[in-house]
Order: sequence, then structure tokens, then C-alpha cells
Amino acid sequence: MNAKKILGTILCAVIAITALTGCAGSGKKKVGISMPTKDLQRWNQDGDYMKQKFEAAGYEVDLQYAGNKADTQLSQMENMINSGCKVLVVAAVESTSLGTAIDKAAAKNIPVIAYDRLLMDNANVAYYATFDNYKVGQIQGEFVRDTLDLDNAAGPFNIEFTAGDPGDNNASFFFNGAMDVLKPYIDAGKLVVVSGQTDFSSVATPEWSTATAQSRAENIIGSNYADKNIDAWLCSNDSTAQGVVNALDSRYNGEWPIITGQDCDIVSVKNMLAGKQTMSVFKDTRTLAERTVTMASQILDGKTVETNNTYNNNAKEVPSYLCDPVFADINNYKQILIDSGYYKEADLA
Ligand code: GAL
Repeated sequence: MNAKKILGTILCAVIAITALTGCAGSGKKKVGISMPTKDLQRWNQDGDYMKQKFEAAGYEVDLQYAGNKADTQLSQMENMINSGCKVLVVAAVESTSLGTAIDKAAAKNIPVIAYDRLLMDNANVAYYATFDNYKVGQIQGEFVRDTLDLDNAAGPFNIEFTAGDPGDNNASFFFNGAMDVLKPYIDAGKLVVVSGQTDFSSVATPEWSTATAQSRAENIIGSNYADKNIDAWLCSNDSTAQGVVNALDSRYNGEWPIITGQDCDIVSVKNMLAGKQTMSVFKDTRTLAERTVTMASQILDGKTVETNNTYNNNAKEVPSYLCDPVFADINNYKQILIDSGYYKEADLA
């Protein structure tokens, strides 16, 4: 064998070992994490926590952000599959668009865990780790019901709705959770939606965009509330609540409404402290990240994977683990956000 051939043989052996172990040199198993966007605070935290926790558990991590583009996410997942990742954790930009990558992963026995957002229409989705999404909406709806005292007060009260991204399977769960609480009061005339916009497709916000939520809210305020108060604005999450707050700040002269949110983003917690957003729902991304690391380790170690529910993705009942969302407002934010070490007081100054 000449030197060139020997070198070639060594190279082939290295490639074969790399493919087998899933990670060049280190011998560690590699995990691919695909997050939707860096634009929203929470996904940065989710990605960071998972990276830390997977690394602490002895894995190598390939963490990618898809810039809110489904085709980018698809090719990032394919790269992860081809570069030897042993499990993929995916928070989808668009819940139905990643099927070819999920199928390619399945063909190589690489389990795909849907993270926070369910991956739809595909029987190869292995597991789902999330918060109880319907309960998030319920918490928001019950807050509006109880704060306006809908069962006792005479009313009627004016309310508007701002929901999330139609491509995100969570968005309808949040909306339905809230609507199931509030619809009886709309039907009874106790709550009035002056804009008339009550169905999910009219109130949805593509990409959960603050700017889109703001311009829709500005239109609603301009056309309907020149001489009327808005009593409540049900927003499915913080990025959309921020848009509504901006619109009210610039276009609205009435009494400030109750505004709901979700995520406890720093901007929204500051808005709560300033009296502009009334509540949020805290979903501790540390809890979800930890749960996902446990799930992935149990899969890779061939252990029983702990789940506590299933979600139907139109192709199968996906075994799921649902974490608990927590009501947050100005009265308990210190305890749940500061004392738990999620934020420092200085972050909110
Ligand atoms: C949802 C997620 C929420 C919110 C929203 C916008 O899928 O569950 O926590 O952040 O996306 O990114």
C-alpha cells in the first residue's frame, strides 16, 4: 500500500466511525435542535437552556434558528440528519411543512421530538414536549371573566381578540381555550365584540408579529372606538399584546382595557409593571428544556419515555408530556420570575 492509499484507508475508517458514533472525534452523541426564530425572546431562552442541559448531560449540540422560514428549517433539519444527529428537537415555524425531513429522519431511526409546537400530519413524529396549550387560553379567558366579574356585573363590556399564527398548531388551542370560557358571555350579550371579529381566522396574527398585531389593532380602534371604551383585549401571547399596547398608546383615548398575554417576555413584564398589560402566562422554558432533555435521553438509552398525555396530529396520537402554565401578574411576578432566578430585578428596570 502506498502512502496515498494508507491515507485514504484511514480517512474512510474515520468517516465510518464518525457516522456510527454520530459525532466527529468526541464520541458524544449529537442532538439537533431547530428553533423557529431569534426574533422572540422565548426561543432564544429555549435554545440556550436546551444546549446547556444537553451538554451537561454529555451530548454534543447542533442548535439552529430558522429565521421564521419553513424551507430554511427543512434544510437545517436535513443537514442535522446528514451530519449524524441521533435525535432532533424541533419547534416548527409551520406545523405541516416539515414532513419530508421527519420522514428522512425516521428512515435513519432518528426520533423527532416536537418541541412546544406540535408537528402535524405526520405519523413519524416520535414525541411531543409542551405546555398545556388549551389551559393557557383558559387561564386568559378566566382572567377576563373574573376581572370583569361577568357573572354578576351588569355590563355589557366591550372586548376584542388578537390570536396567534395560523401556521402554529398552538395558536388555535390558546384561542379555543379562551373562547370556550368567553363565548357564553358573548352569546348572552354581556360581552360585545364591537369590531364583529370573533373567528380565529379574522383575529389571527401571522408569525405572531408585534407590528401586524399593532396595525390591526389601530384599524379596529380607529373604526370602532372613537367614542367607546374597550374593556378587555384578549391577546394570545406577549408579542401580540405588545402590538395592541402600542396601538392603544397611539390611537386610543378611552379607559385602559384589561390586556392578556403569555410568555412573561421582559418587554411585557415591564408593561405589566407600567400598568399597560394586565397579566401574562408564565411557561418556564427551563422546565420544558429539562423535560425535553429527559425525554431525549430516555429515548436514546432505550428506557421507558415518560409522558402524561397524547395530542392528535392528524396522523397519530403523539405521546406527549404537558408541563403546567402559571398565571402571572404584578402581584406574583416577583415570586415566580425573580425568586426563581428566571430574571434579575435589573432585567425589568
Ligand atoms: C407559541 C408558543 C408561545 C409563543 C408563540 C410565539 O407556539 O407556545 O409561547 O411564544 O408561539 O412565538
